[in-house]
Amino acid sequence: VDHYAVIGNPIAHSKSPDIHARFAAQTQQDLQYDRLLAPLDGFLASVQSFIRNGGKGLNVTVPFKLEAYALATTLTERARAAGAVNTLKFDGTEMLGDNTDGIGLVTDIVRNAGIAVANKSVLLLGAGGAARGVILPLLSEQPARLVLANRTHAKALDLAHRFSNQPRLKVCEFAEVEDTFDIVINATAASLASEVPPISPRVFGAHTLAYDMMYGKEPTAFMRFAKQHGAIVRDGLGMLVEQAAESFYLWRGVRPETSDVFAELRERL
Ligand code: ATR
Repeated sequence: VDHYAVIGNPIAHSKSPDIHARFAAQTQQDLQYDRLLAPLDGFLASVQSFIRNGGKGLNVTVPFKLEAYALATTLTERARAAGAVNTLKFDGTEMLGDNTDGIGLVTDIVRNAGIAVANKSVLLLGAGGAARGVILPLLSEQPARLVLANRTHAKALDLAHRFSNQPRLKVCEFAEVEDTFDIVINATAASLASEVPPISPRVFGAHTLAYDMMYGKEPTAFMRFAKQHGAIVRDGLGMLVEQAAESFYLWRGVRPETSDVFAELRERL
């Protein structure tokens, strides 16, 4: 059997082994998928030993996505734009680095929520790795505009600068975001602290999709705030399942069906 794993630190909480085991059973792919706890200073050694033992691919999570980016011998365009790698595929001496987070988000919005991004106005909150990872896949959908806003404005300017060939990408200060958007995506870490990014509730209209990349048993503070102001809300559980499906496809060439896996995960949160 071919071996895969998710590597991170910590890793015990990861749902990826569960998701990939379900994908493998459903598509009748013979593979094993484990959790790999790497020491904080031992990412490279852990990857090398995994490959020596015949490992075919890794999902990479906190805090190793930048190291995986540096390690990859080939990068996909979306990994390069993200500046981070969440999926590695090993083939001989080649280490292909991909990033499936952004396409996971887009698939969850467009296919699962049934809301097109094309020609829509999109507000992306945050300017860390989570925000950076989704910019290119969002722009690929041809939104009317993608506005980037971050608590620390300078970081949003720096990030947008990396996409300076993209006329649809704009930057705005939190305090100056006043328009109503079709889609508002929270890519900040505020939800981890049960906080809401300080934006005007006017960004939410009756048809606005407010999407939090975080997920949990209960709606996040951002989702509660958005719902209170009339928005349709969605958390990041679907993004988690869809990024996994895209990694699975990269490794195995088969697209798993995601809706049952999503429903089962939701039930067990
Ligand atoms: P990640 O890789 O998860 O994006 P990060 O690089 O640490 O993590 O970035 C965290 C993001 O969440 C940043 O955009 C941060 O804003 P600052 O650049 O101003 O620090 C944002 N963030 C974290 N806590 C926040 C809060 N309480 N309100 C608003 N933004 C917050």
